[in-house]
Amino acid sequence: MAFELKINGKLVPVDAPADMPLLWVLRDLAGLTGTKYGCGMAQCGACTVHVGGQPTRSCLIPASALVGQDITTIEGAEGDVAKAVQQAWMDQAVAQCGYCQSGQIMSAVALLENNRTPSDAEIDTAMNGNLCRCATYQRIRSAIKQAAAALA
Ligand code: FES
Ligand code: FES
Repeated sequence: MAFELKINGKLVPVDAPADMPLLWVLRDLAGLTGTKYGCGMAQCGACTVHVGGQPTRSCLIPASALVGQDITTIEGAEGDVAKAVQQAWMDQAVAQCGYCQSGQIMSAVALLENNRTPSDAEIDTAMNGNLCRCATYQRIRSAIKQAAAALA
């Protein structure tokens, strides 16, 4: 099935089965390997991208269902919020093995795009579905707070 997706602001031609998850279109067809495969069951958050600005698990959602929507991956994360999050992530040395971090960052950017002053509870709720086997949760929370302060 041939269709086009708008990924990181560019129209990308795709030829894929109708039920192919967005994650595999991004990684295997579009060459955007920053988005990671973890569980494949929409439960770990490693594959988080933005669809229409909302954090979305790309491992289950069929790419063909997203024609006409704005899809943003870690490679296309830009703007004041994304910059503040990336800087905070570096300053706080958040990443350990790094595998979960693109998903963490995409969830954090979506949170701060919608709420520049999140409470601890709101941070926990927004990040709850992003698992980290290296348990970097405290540094993630600190980095989100640093980014929020920088954006205030
Ligand atoms: S790989 Fe998509 S949520 Fe785990
Ligand atoms: S940094 Fe290793 S899984 Fe999160």
